[in-house]
Amino acid sequence: MELAGKKVVVTGGAGLVGSHIVDELVKEKAEVTVYDNFVRGKRENLKKSLDSGLVTIVEADICDRETLKKTFAGKDLCFHEAAVWLKACQDEPRKALEINTTGTFNVLETCVASGIKKIVAASSSSVYGDGLYFPTDEKHPFNNDLFYGAGKIADEQWYRAFRKKYGLDFIAFRYLNIYGPRQPFLGAYTDVIMNFFNKLDENLPPRIEGDGSQTLDLVYVGDCARANIMAMKSAVSGEYFNVSSGKETTLKELAEILIKVSGKKDIKPEYVPRDKNLVTRRFGSADKAKSMLGFTVTTSLEQGLKNILAWREEVKKREAK
Ligand SMILES: NC(=O)c1ccc[n+]([C@@H]2O[C@H](COP(=O)([O-])OP(=O)(O)OC[C@H]3O[C@@H](n4cnc5c(N)ncnc54)[C@H](O)[C@@H]3O)[C@@H](O)[C@H]2O)c1
Repeated sequence: MELAGKKVVVTGGAGLVGSHIVDELVKEKAEVTVYDNFVRGKRENLKKSLDSGLVTIVEADICDRETLKKTFAGKDLCFHEAAVWLKACQDEPRKALEINTTGTFNVLETCVASGIKKIVAASSSSVYGDGLYFPTDEKHPFNNDLFYGAGKIADEQWYRAFRKKYGLDFIAFRYLNIYGPRQPFLGAYTDVIMNFFNKLDENLPPRIEGDGSQTLDLVYVGDCARANIMAMKSAVSGEYFNVSSGKETTLKELAEILIKVSGKKDIKPEYVPRDKNLVTRRFGSADKAKSMLGFTVTTSLEQGLKNILAWREEVKKREAK
């Protein structure tokens, strides 16, 4: 499917993954509407794409069905990224229901009512809970016991039900650990990479929760956005895919690469007790996305971290003015 000239809605389009999808859509010459309530997303994430004249912003909530209806009217396609994060759902479980689950239902219902033909949506590798085997493929059971994962599992079921009843094509992505420029680095709910960088900025050791043997499967956000575009263009429908680098990185290794990239060789990581809600190992199989969508990650971890560092410098300079 060609995306040029298509009218595309991106929910959560001002966030990390969403804003990079918007960048890719602009390259494809699609007409993009970003639908975001800006609880976490930022207008500056869209600065570059707004210059194209192809992007419109609607500041609204996916719980607001009237605005969804008005916004989705006449649109062709939808990327659905709006959601609240794992830790926010553990702190306030009702958000997992009202935003991540009912909100997703609202988006699907509005897609059908507006004649949208395909949705590419963000699920999460959280649906697997603690992995029972590695690399974890898409056949792994739902071993999740957290509110965020529960909401994402419900969403995966809504996608199937909407496709069966209304013919709405979908692909849902179980992202592993997505990282890259535009990840928030201040306030609550910052992730491990930004916390490490924040410490290094102050010449303090990156703080590792646990013994450092926990692993992440780190996927650069630009690659993740590309997976979304490939999914939308492909004829594949009704499938779930990991977005995985096909590699696992221990927190200890990550801290070491970060120290190297930031040029602060004399600093050693500090080890502190860990949060029991965190999964100890993440390592997804990248095979299904490769064989059915032709998608593989191409950005090395070192390059991705360098891109974050350069972006953080840019933001700090801008904010200092
Ligand atoms: N980043 C990861 O590692 C990761 C991993 C697994 C799954 N995911 C999923 O991928 C998607 C994108 O994640 P991200 O990292 O870009 O997160 P993000 O927080 O940067 O982006 C989410 C966006 O949704 C918006 N939003 C939140 N609640 C909303 C609401 N009620 N109405 C409208 N907009 C709302 C936020 O303002 C934000 O801009 C999410 O669905 C997330 O659950 C992310």
